[in-house]
Amino acid sequence: MRLAPQPSAQPLQLLVALLLTAGANASPVLSSGCPDRCVCDDQLVVQCAGQHLTTFPVNLPLATRQLIISNNRIAELPPLALNYLSDLVYLDCSNNSLTEISESTFGNLRKLAYLDLSFNTLSRIEDRTFGPLASLVMLRMTDNPGLSEIHPDAFAENSALQVLDVSRNNLTVLNITSLMALPALRSVGLSGNPWSCECDNEDLCLWIHLEGFKFQDEGQTVCGSPADMQGRRLGEVGIQLRTLCHQTLGSLDYLFFVVIGFVIFAAGTVSAWMMGVVMVLYERYIKKKDENLDADEEEEDGAETGRSSRARSDHGNGDLKMSHTV
Ligand SMILES: *[C@@H]1O[C@H](CO)[C@@H](O)[C@H](O)[C@H]1NC(C)=O
Ligand SMILES: *[C@@H]1O[C@H](CO)[C@@H](O)[C@H](O)[C@H]1NC(C)=O
Ligand SMILES: *[C@@H]1O[C@H](CO)[C@@H](O)[C@H](O)[C@H]1NC(C)=O
Repeated sequence: MRLAPQPSAQPLQLLVALLLTAGANASPVLSSGCPDRCVCDDQLVVQCAGQHLTTFPVNLPLATRQLIISNNRIAELPPLALNYLSDLVYLDCSNNSLTEISESTFGNLRKLAYLDLSFNTLSRIEDRTFGPLASLVMLRMTDNPGLSEIHPDAFAENSALQVLDVSRNNLTVLNITSLMALPALRSVGLSGNPWSCECDNEDLCLWIHLEGFKFQDEGQTVCGSPADMQGRRLGEVGIQLRTLCHQTLGSLDYLFFVVIGFVIFAAGTVSAWMMGVVMVLYERYIKKKDENLDADEEEEDGAETGRSSRARSDHGNGDLKMSHTV
């Protein structure tokens, strides 16, 4: 009512209001809106669970901190769209149709602390897949029925990792060299896989034997092969495998020693025989030389004097006869 006499004031207020709204819109959260069929809140959480999505949601707020796309049928995580979300801390992709994760998928998610890839159809995890995830604390990757291969260095750079769950996959072996080196790791889930209880998995079995407290459902972490070990706990067969696997090495070593021993024995025999032959030949040679020397002396003496040399030459002949009879 008070504004009525001053009509010019109303457009000004409107303009101010518009400018304020525009200012608020400039923040990335609001400027990007919210993807279809998702709910976005002011805590930067985007919730898209169970919406029958078949593709990764578009139009995600750039500042999203939590993204939940579980219980859909998403077949692919597009690296480009995902890596715009550099503030992402929590990503739940469980129960989708993901078949592979490439090296560039998580290339820029340096703040990501929680990642869930469970209930998908992954078949293998390559080297460096999780490499850029320097802040990753918890990785859940359970219930991928065809997942049978994890590269030895897949988790090598996740030095913040505390919880790793790869239960109920199709794993038979796991190289634990880089896993054991992770300083913060305190919980590992391995149950429900058809583990091999042979020498190729000895390290894993021994690790569970020594640090069983780290393993979730350790009682369900059992051998899938060979047949005579099926159902036995990995932690229980650890010591048995160590003895078994190194005994095999030991008997090979024994074989090696036996062969080497025989070779040395044979070489010794042959060289002793050769030495004997050489000795005999040498002895003969020396005697022949003595003989020649005596003959030479005889000749020289004969040339120098007459009678005295004749007596010595008799003596010399005596020597010669004797050496012939020896
Ligand atoms: C996976 O999602 C479907 C809906 O897409 C749901 O019916 C099913 O119960 C979910 N499975 C699990 C294990 O959460
Ligand atoms: C699990 O791996 C074995 C080979 O190790 C393969 O024969 C089998 O088909 C795999 N299972 C699934 C469900 O892919
Ligand atoms: C485990 O992987 C490392 C490389 O990270 C390799 O050097 C080592 O030989 C592997 N161990 C086994 C038992 O295959």
